[in-house]
Amino acid sequence: MKKIIAVFSFFAAITGFSQPADMRSLIEQNLQFAAAQYKWLDKNTPDSLMPRNFNPATGKAENSNTQWWCSGFFPGTLWYIYEYTKDSSVRLMAEKRLTILEKEKYYTGNHDLGFMIYNSFGNAYRLTGNPAYKDAVLTAAGSLASRYRPQIRSIQSWNANNRLKCPVIIDNMMNLELLYWASQQGGSQQFRDIAVNHANSTLLYHYRRDHSSWHVLDYDLASGSIRQRITWQGAADSSAWARGQAWGLYGFTMMYRFSHNKSYLSKARQIAGYLLNHPRLPSDKIPYWDFDAPGIPYEPRDASAAAIMASALLELAQYVKGKEKNNYLNAATIMLQLLASPAYRSRNIGDNNGFLLMHSVGSLPHKSEVDVSLTYADYYFIEALLRYQQWYLDNK
Ligand code: GLY
Repeated sequence: MKKIIAVFSFFAAITGFSQPADMRSLIEQNLQFAAAQYKWLDKNTPDSLMPRNFNPATGKAENSNTQWWCSGFFPGTLWYIYEYTKDSSVRLMAEKRLTILEKEKYYTGNHDLGFMIYNSFGNAYRLTGNPAYKDAVLTAAGSLASRYRPQIRSIQSWNANNRLKCPVIIDNMMNLELLYWASQQGGSQQFRDIAVNHANSTLLYHYRRDHSSWHVLDYDLASGSIRQRITWQGAADSSAWARGQAWGLYGFTMMYRFSHNKSYLSKARQIAGYLLNHPRLPSDKIPYWDFDAPGIPYEPRDASAAAIMASALLELAQYVKGKEKNNYLNAATIMLQLLASPAYRSRNIGDNNGFLLMHSVGSLPHKSEVDVSLTYADYYFIEALLRYQQWYLDNK
Protein backbone atom coordinates (compact mmCIF):
# COMPACT_ATOMS: atom_id res chain seq x y z
CA MET A 1 0.00 0.00 0.00
CA LYS A 2 2.91 2.35 0.73
CA LYS A 3 4.04 1.94 -2.86
CA ILE A 4 0.58 2.82 -4.17
CA ILE A 5 0.56 5.97 -2.08
CA ALA A 6 3.99 6.82 -3.41
CA VAL A 7 2.74 6.28 -6.97
CA PHE A 8 -0.24 8.54 -6.30
CA SER A 9 1.94 11.24 -4.79
CA PHE A 10 4.17 11.06 -7.85
CA PHE A 11 1.12 11.45 -10.13
CA ALA A 12 -0.19 14.26 -7.98
CA ALA A 13 3.13 16.04 -8.36
CA ILE A 14 3.37 15.67 -12.13
CA THR A 15 -0.27 15.75 -13.20
CA GLY A 16 -2.16 17.60 -10.52
CA PHE A 17 -4.22 14.46 -9.88
CA SER A 18 -5.64 14.57 -6.38
CA GLN A 19 -5.93 11.24 -4.67
CA PRO A 20 -9.55 10.52 -3.73
CA ALA A 21 -10.06 10.59 0.01
CA ASP A 22 -11.67 7.16 0.02
CA MET A 23 -13.22 4.54 -2.19
CA ARG A 24 -16.64 6.18 -2.08
CA SER A 25 -15.31 9.36 -3.64
CA LEU A 26 -13.13 7.39 -6.05
CA ILE A 27 -16.24 5.53 -7.21
CA GLU A 28 -18.28 8.72 -7.44
CA GLN A 29 -15.56 10.49 -9.47
CA ASN A 30 -15.08 7.56 -11.81
CA LEU A 31 -18.77 6.87 -12.44
CA GLN A 32 -19.44 10.56 -13.11
CA PHE A 33 -16.48 10.66 -15.46
CA ALA A 34 -17.67 7.43 -17.13
CA ALA A 35 -21.11 8.95 -17.72
CA ALA A 36 -19.66 11.98 -19.49
CA GLN A 37 -17.04 9.98 -21.38
CA TYR A 38 -19.52 7.34 -22.60
CA LYS A 39 -21.94 10.04 -23.76
CA TRP A 40 -19.07 11.34 -25.87
CA LEU A 41 -18.31 7.81 -27.10
CA ASP A 42 -21.94 7.17 -27.99
CA LYS A 43 -22.16 10.44 -29.90
CA ASN A 44 -19.01 9.61 -31.83
CA THR A 45 -19.90 6.01 -32.72
CA PRO A 46 -22.26 5.35 -35.67
CA ASP A 47 -25.62 4.01 -34.49
CA SER A 48 -25.15 0.84 -36.57
CA LEU A 49 -21.84 -0.14 -34.89
CA MET A 50 -20.26 -0.69 -31.46
CA PRO A 51 -17.02 0.89 -30.21
CA ARG A 52 -14.22 -1.66 -30.11
CA ASN A 53 -10.80 -0.14 -29.39
CA PHE A 54 -8.53 2.87 -29.54
CA ASN A 55 -4.83 2.69 -30.28
CA PRO A 56 -2.93 5.72 -28.94
CA ALA A 57 0.16 4.85 -30.98
CA THR A 58 -1.68 5.28 -34.28
CA GLY A 59 -4.44 7.58 -33.01
CA LYS A 60 -6.95 5.25 -34.66
CA ALA A 61 -10.21 3.98 -33.20
CA GLU A 62 -12.01 0.90 -34.50
CA ASN A 63 -15.69 0.06 -34.26
CA SER A 64 -17.19 -3.40 -34.71
CA ASN A 65 -20.33 -4.93 -36.05
CA THR A 66 -22.62 -6.69 -33.59
CA GLN A 67 -21.25 -10.17 -34.34
CA TRP A 68 -17.89 -9.31 -32.79
CA TRP A 69 -17.58 -11.03 -29.39
CA CYS A 70 -17.33 -7.66 -27.60
CA SER A 71 -20.55 -6.15 -28.92
CA GLY A 72 -22.35 -6.48 -25.57
CA PHE A 73 -19.81 -4.55 -23.52
CA PHE A 74 -20.66 -1.02 -24.64
CA PRO A 75 -24.39 -1.32 -23.94
CA GLY A 76 -23.59 -3.30 -20.78
CA THR A 77 -21.38 -0.49 -19.49
CA LEU A 78 -24.04 2.08 -20.36
CA TRP A 79 -26.51 0.08 -18.24
CA TYR A 80 -24.08 0.03 -15.32
CA ILE A 81 -23.59 3.80 -15.64
CA TYR A 82 -27.36 4.25 -15.74
CA GLU A 83 -27.68 2.07 -12.63
CA TYR A 84 -25.41 4.47 -10.75
CA THR A 85 -26.43 7.83 -12.22
CA LYS A 86 -30.11 7.15 -13.09
CA ASP A 87 -29.43 9.48 -16.04
CA SER A 88 -32.27 8.85 -18.49
CA SER A 89 -30.17 9.99 -21.47
CA VAL A 90 -27.69 7.18 -20.74
CA ARG A 91 -30.58 4.73 -20.57
CA LEU A 92 -31.76 5.90 -23.99
CA MET A 93 -28.27 5.28 -25.39
CA ALA A 94 -28.23 1.78 -23.91
CA GLU A 95 -31.69 1.02 -25.32
CA LYS A 96 -30.68 2.30 -28.75
CA ARG A 97 -27.62 0.01 -28.82
CA LEU A 98 -29.72 -3.01 -27.82
CA THR A 99 -31.91 -2.56 -30.87
CA ILE A 100 -28.95 -3.28 -33.19
CA LEU A 101 -27.61 -6.05 -30.95
CA GLU A 102 -30.81 -8.03 -30.48
CA LYS A 103 -30.49 -10.09 -33.67
CA GLU A 104 -27.35 -11.73 -32.24
CA LYS A 105 -29.48 -13.73 -29.80
CA TYR A 106 -29.74 -16.19 -32.70
CA TYR A 107 -25.99 -16.29 -33.34
CA THR A 108 -24.46 -19.77 -33.15
CA GLY A 109 -21.09 -19.15 -34.85
CA ASN A 110 -19.09 -19.33 -31.59
CA HIS A 111 -19.52 -19.48 -27.80
CA ASP A 112 -19.48 -15.75 -27.06
CA LEU A 113 -23.24 -15.34 -26.49
CA GLY A 114 -22.75 -14.58 -22.80
CA PHE A 115 -20.43 -11.66 -23.46
CA MET A 116 -22.71 -10.40 -26.22
CA ILE A 117 -26.18 -10.91 -24.78
CA TYR A 118 -25.96 -11.51 -21.01
CA ASN A 119 -23.84 -8.46 -20.20
CA SER A 120 -26.12 -6.26 -22.29
CA PHE A 121 -29.67 -7.66 -22.16
CA GLY A 122 -29.15 -9.32 -18.77
CA ASN A 123 -28.26 -5.99 -17.18
CA ALA A 124 -31.09 -4.31 -19.08
CA TYR A 125 -33.59 -6.81 -17.67
CA ARG A 126 -32.18 -6.55 -14.14
CA LEU A 127 -32.59 -2.78 -14.19
CA THR A 128 -35.89 -2.44 -16.04
CA GLY A 129 -37.80 -5.71 -15.65
CA ASN A 130 -38.77 -5.46 -19.33
CA PRO A 131 -39.73 -9.06 -20.31
CA ALA A 132 -38.51 -8.53 -23.89
CA TYR A 133 -34.96 -8.27 -22.53
CA LYS A 134 -35.36 -11.51 -20.61
CA ASP A 135 -36.66 -13.23 -23.74
CA ALA A 136 -33.54 -12.14 -25.60
CA VAL A 137 -31.34 -13.77 -22.94
CA LEU A 138 -33.41 -16.99 -22.98
CA THR A 139 -33.20 -17.19 -26.77
CA ALA A 140 -29.45 -16.60 -26.63
CA ALA A 141 -29.13 -19.42 -24.07
CA GLY A 142 -30.74 -21.76 -26.62
CA SER A 143 -28.27 -20.57 -29.28
CA LEU A 144 -25.31 -21.17 -26.97
CA ALA A 145 -26.64 -24.57 -25.88
CA SER A 146 -26.62 -25.65 -29.55
CA ARG A 147 -22.82 -25.71 -29.28
CA TYR A 148 -22.84 -28.24 -26.42
CA ARG A 149 -21.06 -31.49 -27.30
CA PRO A 150 -22.26 -34.28 -24.97
CA GLN A 151 -19.30 -36.53 -25.97
CA ILE A 152 -16.94 -34.17 -24.16
CA ARG A 153 -19.45 -32.65 -21.74
CA SER A 154 -18.35 -29.19 -22.94
CA ILE A 155 -19.44 -26.32 -25.15
CA GLN A 156 -17.40 -26.02 -28.33
CA SER A 157 -15.91 -22.51 -28.31
CA TRP A 158 -14.85 -22.06 -31.90
CA ASN A 159 -15.62 -23.96 -35.06
CA ALA A 160 -13.07 -26.45 -36.39
CA ASN A 161 -10.27 -25.12 -38.57
CA ASN A 162 -7.11 -26.48 -40.25
CA ARG A 163 -5.36 -26.98 -36.94
CA LEU A 164 -8.13 -27.56 -34.39
CA LYS A 165 -10.96 -30.08 -34.39
CA CYS A 166 -13.04 -29.04 -31.41
CA PRO A 167 -11.51 -26.13 -29.49
CA VAL A 168 -12.70 -25.31 -25.97
CA ILE A 169 -11.10 -22.22 -24.44
CA ILE A 170 -10.89 -21.09 -20.82
CA ASP A 171 -12.81 -17.90 -21.69
CA ASN A 172 -15.87 -20.10 -22.12
CA MET A 173 -16.33 -20.20 -18.34
CA MET A 174 -17.73 -16.68 -18.62
CA ASN A 175 -20.57 -17.68 -20.92
CA LEU A 176 -21.93 -20.15 -18.36
CA GLU A 177 -23.51 -17.25 -16.46
CA LEU A 178 -25.99 -16.76 -19.29
CA LEU A 179 -26.95 -20.44 -19.20
CA TYR A 180 -27.29 -20.81 -15.44
CA TRP A 181 -29.26 -17.57 -15.15
CA ALA A 182 -31.58 -18.58 -18.00
CA SER A 183 -32.29 -21.92 -16.30
CA GLN A 184 -33.47 -20.02 -13.22
CA GLN A 185 -35.62 -17.60 -15.19
CA GLY A 186 -37.96 -19.96 -16.96
CA GLY A 187 -35.47 -21.44 -19.44
CA SER A 188 -34.75 -25.15 -19.88
CA GLN A 189 -33.13 -27.02 -16.98
CA GLN A 190 -30.73 -28.37 -19.59
CA PHE A 191 -29.10 -24.94 -19.63
CA ARG A 192 -28.02 -25.45 -16.02
CA ASP A 193 -26.88 -29.03 -16.71
CA ILE A 194 -24.76 -27.83 -19.62
CA ALA A 195 -23.20 -25.08 -17.50
CA VAL A 196 -22.40 -27.54 -14.71
CA ASN A 197 -21.01 -30.18 -17.07
CA HIS A 198 -18.86 -27.60 -18.82
CA ALA A 199 -17.52 -26.23 -15.54
CA ASN A 200 -16.77 -29.77 -14.32
CA SER A 201 -14.87 -30.62 -17.51
CA THR A 202 -12.92 -27.36 -17.19
CA LEU A 203 -12.10 -28.25 -13.59
CA LEU A 204 -10.85 -31.68 -14.61
CA TYR A 205 -8.90 -30.91 -17.76
CA HIS A 206 -8.15 -27.23 -18.18
CA TYR A 207 -5.94 -26.61 -15.12
CA ARG A 208 -2.33 -27.41 -14.40
CA ARG A 209 -1.00 -28.58 -11.03
CA ASP A 210 0.00 -25.02 -10.12
CA HIS A 211 -3.62 -23.82 -10.73
CA SER A 212 -2.80 -21.89 -13.89
CA SER A 213 -4.82 -22.80 -16.94
CA TRP A 214 -4.10 -23.65 -20.52
CA HIS A 215 -5.83 -21.40 -22.99
CA VAL A 216 -7.14 -23.88 -25.58
CA LEU A 217 -8.01 -27.54 -25.26
CA ASP A 218 -8.56 -29.26 -28.58
CA TYR A 219 -10.81 -32.33 -28.35
CA ASP A 220 -11.39 -35.21 -30.69
CA LEU A 221 -15.15 -35.61 -30.72
CA ALA A 222 -15.12 -39.19 -31.95
CA SER A 223 -13.05 -40.51 -29.04
CA GLY A 224 -13.68 -37.71 -26.53
CA SER A 225 -9.94 -37.43 -25.95
CA ILE A 226 -7.87 -34.24 -25.79
CA ARG A 227 -5.71 -33.89 -28.90
CA GLN A 228 -3.63 -30.96 -27.69
CA ARG A 229 -3.38 -28.22 -25.09
CA ILE A 230 -2.19 -25.02 -26.70
CA THR A 231 -2.41 -21.26 -26.64
CA TRP A 232 -3.93 -18.79 -29.07
CA GLN A 233 -3.40 -15.46 -27.31
CA GLY A 234 -0.70 -16.39 -24.80
CA ALA A 235 3.10 -16.31 -24.94
CA ALA A 236 3.44 -20.10 -25.20
CA ASP A 237 1.37 -23.26 -24.95
CA SER A 238 2.75 -23.76 -21.44
CA SER A 239 2.36 -20.14 -20.32
CA ALA A 240 -0.21 -18.43 -18.10
CA TRP A 241 -1.99 -15.93 -20.35
CA ALA A 242 -3.19 -13.25 -17.93
CA ARG A 243 -6.72 -12.69 -19.23
CA GLY A 244 -7.32 -16.43 -19.40
CA GLN A 245 -6.42 -16.71 -15.71
CA ALA A 246 -8.81 -13.83 -15.00
CA TRP A 247 -11.65 -15.48 -16.94
CA GLY A 248 -11.16 -18.66 -14.93
CA LEU A 249 -11.12 -16.83 -11.60
CA TYR A 250 -14.29 -14.94 -12.46
CA GLY A 251 -15.94 -18.00 -13.99
CA PHE A 252 -15.49 -20.37 -11.05
CA THR A 253 -16.45 -17.67 -8.54
CA MET A 254 -19.63 -17.01 -10.53
CA MET A 255 -20.40 -20.74 -10.81
CA TYR A 256 -20.14 -21.03 -7.02
CA ARG A 257 -22.64 -18.15 -6.68
CA PHE A 258 -25.22 -20.10 -8.67
CA SER A 259 -24.54 -23.68 -7.58
CA HIS A 260 -22.99 -23.46 -4.08
CA ASN A 261 -20.73 -26.28 -5.25
CA LYS A 262 -17.67 -26.11 -2.98
CA SER A 263 -15.34 -27.49 -5.63
CA TYR A 264 -15.91 -24.35 -7.71
CA LEU A 265 -15.18 -22.16 -4.70
CA SER A 266 -12.03 -24.07 -3.94
CA LYS A 267 -10.88 -23.76 -7.58
CA ALA A 268 -11.49 -20.00 -7.48
CA ARG A 269 -9.46 -19.73 -4.26
CA GLN A 270 -6.64 -21.74 -5.78
CA ILE A 271 -6.59 -19.52 -8.87
CA ALA A 272 -6.62 -16.40 -6.68
CA GLY A 273 -3.71 -17.83 -4.69
CA TYR A 274 -1.80 -18.54 -7.88
CA LEU A 275 -2.36 -15.00 -9.17
CA LEU A 276 -1.86 -12.96 -6.04
CA ASN A 277 1.26 -14.85 -4.92
CA HIS A 278 2.80 -14.95 -8.36
CA PRO A 279 6.41 -13.69 -8.31
CA ARG A 280 5.79 -11.86 -11.59
CA LEU A 281 2.62 -10.04 -10.47
CA PRO A 282 3.92 -6.48 -10.10
CA SER A 283 3.48 -4.78 -6.73
CA ASP A 284 0.82 -2.49 -8.24
CA LYS A 285 -1.07 -5.72 -9.13
CA ILE A 286 -1.74 -4.88 -12.79
CA PRO A 287 -0.53 -8.04 -14.54
CA TYR A 288 1.66 -8.26 -17.59
CA TRP A 289 -0.30 -9.62 -20.55
CA ASP A 290 1.13 -13.08 -19.82
CA PHE A 291 2.71 -14.17 -16.54
CA ASP A 292 5.39 -15.96 -18.56
CA ALA A 293 5.98 -13.31 -21.20
CA PRO A 294 9.70 -13.52 -22.03
CA GLY A 295 10.54 -9.82 -21.70
CA ILE A 296 9.11 -9.10 -18.24
CA PRO A 297 9.51 -6.40 -16.83
CA TYR A 298 9.48 -4.71 -20.25
CA GLU A 299 6.28 -6.38 -21.48
CA PRO A 300 2.93 -4.56 -21.81
CA ARG A 301 0.52 -4.73 -18.92
CA ASP A 302 -3.06 -5.83 -19.46
CA ALA A 303 -5.55 -3.52 -17.73
CA SER A 304 -8.42 -5.71 -18.92
CA ALA A 305 -7.06 -8.67 -16.96
CA ALA A 306 -6.71 -6.48 -13.87
CA ALA A 307 -10.29 -5.19 -14.19
CA ILE A 308 -11.70 -8.71 -14.56
CA MET A 309 -9.61 -9.94 -11.62
CA ALA A 310 -10.67 -7.01 -9.43
CA SER A 311 -14.33 -7.66 -10.12
CA ALA A 312 -13.92 -11.40 -9.49
CA LEU A 313 -11.93 -10.87 -6.29
CA LEU A 314 -14.64 -8.60 -4.92
CA GLU A 315 -17.13 -11.42 -5.38
CA LEU A 316 -14.78 -14.11 -4.08
CA ALA A 317 -14.18 -12.02 -0.95
CA GLN A 318 -17.87 -12.40 -0.16
CA TYR A 319 -17.51 -16.17 0.12
CA VAL A 320 -14.53 -16.31 2.50
CA LYS A 321 -13.58 -14.85 5.85
CA GLY A 322 -10.80 -13.22 7.86
CA LYS A 323 -7.35 -12.76 6.42
CA GLU A 324 -8.21 -14.34 3.12
CA LYS A 325 -11.16 -11.98 2.61
CA ASN A 326 -8.98 -8.97 3.45
CA ASN A 327 -6.31 -10.19 1.09
CA TYR A 328 -8.77 -10.31 -1.84
CA LEU A 329 -10.29 -6.96 -0.91
CA ASN A 330 -6.91 -5.29 -0.58
CA ALA A 331 -5.75 -6.64 -3.92
CA ALA A 332 -8.94 -5.52 -5.67
CA THR A 333 -8.70 -2.08 -4.05
CA ILE A 334 -5.11 -1.61 -5.17
CA MET A 335 -6.04 -2.68 -8.72
CA LEU A 336 -9.00 -0.30 -8.84
CA GLN A 337 -7.00 2.61 -7.43
CA LEU A 338 -4.31 2.09 -10.04
CA LEU A 339 -6.81 1.66 -12.87
CA ALA A 340 -8.54 4.86 -11.74
CA SER A 341 -5.26 6.79 -11.66
CA PRO A 342 -3.91 8.82 -14.61
CA ALA A 343 -1.49 5.98 -15.34
CA TYR A 344 -4.42 3.91 -16.66
CA ARG A 345 -7.52 6.10 -16.99
CA SER A 346 -8.37 8.84 -19.45
CA ARG A 347 -8.27 12.25 -17.82
CA ASN A 348 -10.40 14.46 -20.06
CA ILE A 349 -13.63 13.91 -21.96
CA GLY A 350 -12.77 12.68 -25.45
CA ASP A 351 -9.31 11.39 -24.47
CA ASN A 352 -8.59 7.94 -25.89
CA ASN A 353 -11.52 8.39 -28.23
CA GLY A 354 -14.03 8.12 -25.42
CA PHE A 355 -12.73 4.99 -23.68
CA LEU A 356 -12.10 4.92 -19.94
CA LEU A 357 -9.02 2.75 -19.56
CA MET A 358 -5.73 2.55 -21.44
CA HIS A 359 -3.09 -0.21 -21.60
CA SER A 360 -4.93 -3.42 -22.45
CA VAL A 361 -3.81 -6.20 -24.74
CA GLY A 362 -6.10 -8.09 -27.12
CA SER A 363 -3.77 -10.60 -28.75
CA LEU A 364 -0.08 -9.88 -28.64
CA PRO A 365 1.03 -12.94 -30.67
CA HIS A 366 -1.16 -11.67 -33.52
CA LYS A 367 0.10 -8.11 -33.00
CA SER A 368 -3.53 -7.19 -32.56
CA GLU A 369 -4.73 -4.59 -30.05
CA VAL A 370 -1.49 -4.25 -28.10
CA ASP A 371 -1.43 -1.51 -25.45
CA VAL A 372 -4.81 -0.08 -26.40
CA SER A 373 -8.18 0.81 -24.94
CA LEU A 374 -10.74 -2.02 -25.11
CA THR A 375 -14.45 -2.10 -24.30
CA TYR A 376 -14.23 -5.07 -21.95
CA ALA A 377 -11.59 -3.44 -19.77
CA ASP A 378 -14.01 -0.55 -19.25
CA TYR A 379 -16.95 -2.90 -18.61
CA TYR A 380 -15.28 -4.89 -15.81
CA PHE A 381 -13.73 -1.74 -14.31
CA ILE A 382 -17.17 -0.16 -13.95
CA GLU A 383 -18.68 -3.44 -12.77
CA ALA A 384 -16.00 -3.73 -10.09
CA LEU A 385 -16.58 -0.16 -8.90
CA LEU A 386 -20.31 -0.83 -8.58
CA ARG A 387 -19.69 -4.11 -6.77
CA TYR A 388 -17.40 -2.29 -4.37
CA GLN A 389 -20.00 0.35 -3.70
CA GLN A 390 -22.98 -1.99 -3.39
CA TRP A 391 -21.32 -4.80 -1.45
CA TYR A 392 -18.67 -3.10 0.65
CA LEU A 393 -19.87 0.47 1.15
CA ASP A 394 -23.66 0.23 1.04
CA ASN A 395 -23.80 -3.44 2.15
CA LYS A 396 -26.54 -4.40 -0.29
N1 GLY B 1 -12.46 -14.00 -25.18
C1 GLY B 1 -11.44 -13.43 -25.97
C2 GLY B 1 -10.42 -12.71 -25.20
O1 GLY B 1 -10.40 -12.71 -23.98
O2 GLY B 1 -9.57 -12.12 -25.84
